[in-house]
Amino acid sequence: MARIKILDKTFETTYTEADVLSAISRVADKISKDLTDKDPVFVCVLNGAFMFAADLMKRVNIPSQISFVKLASYSGTQSTGVTKELIGLNESLVGKTVVIIEDIVDTGITIANLMEQVRQKGATDVRVATLLYKPASCKLNWTPEYVGIEIPNDFIVGYGLDYDGYGRNIPEIMTLVKE
Ligand code: IMP
Ligand code: MG
Repeated sequence: MARIKILDKTFETTYTEADVLSAISRVADKISKDLTDKDPVFVCVLNGAFMFAADLMKRVNIPSQISFVKLASYSGTQSTGVTKELIGLNESLVGKTVVIIEDIVDTGITIANLMEQVRQKGATDVRVATLLYKPASCKLNWTPEYVGIEIPNDFIVGYGLDYDGYGRNIPEIMTLVKE
């Protein structure tokens, strides 16, 4: 099993690129079936979801749009604290089916906030496609509609996810080795 060091920590491969791509193909097929005539808008949450979104959208074969957003902790010069504002969305979501593309749902706090903001922009059907899901850690009474891989409550990097800004370019999922 391949090991790498990022800053002060060691990570080892837990899902290869082939594992990840087969999970993404499965999710794309399900979305394409479920939303065939829905004309959905995909909303990719940067930075973490960039790689998942690219591989997912190549496999989604229905008419759809994609937009890229960020969550900003600061609004103007004032810190908004816990509530992170969704920025970068130019498309109207009024009456739309929206699929939020996320890298990971951990406690679920981020995604719950995002789903609420998307609903406030008028979307009538809001779904979530997440590459990774930590069910043991999630505090919500809800599960993401489209999950690539369910993982234990461990810290991972790769495929868009980072440790202190590094590791996003790793084309597989690597888990922190506890020493
Ligand atoms: P949540 O709000 O706890 O669901 O987690 C939100 C964010 O925490 C995710 O979008 C990631 O940016 C980050 N995160 C959670 N778990 C991990 C991990 O295992 N590795 C890297 N980032 C993570
Ligand atoms: Mg993220």
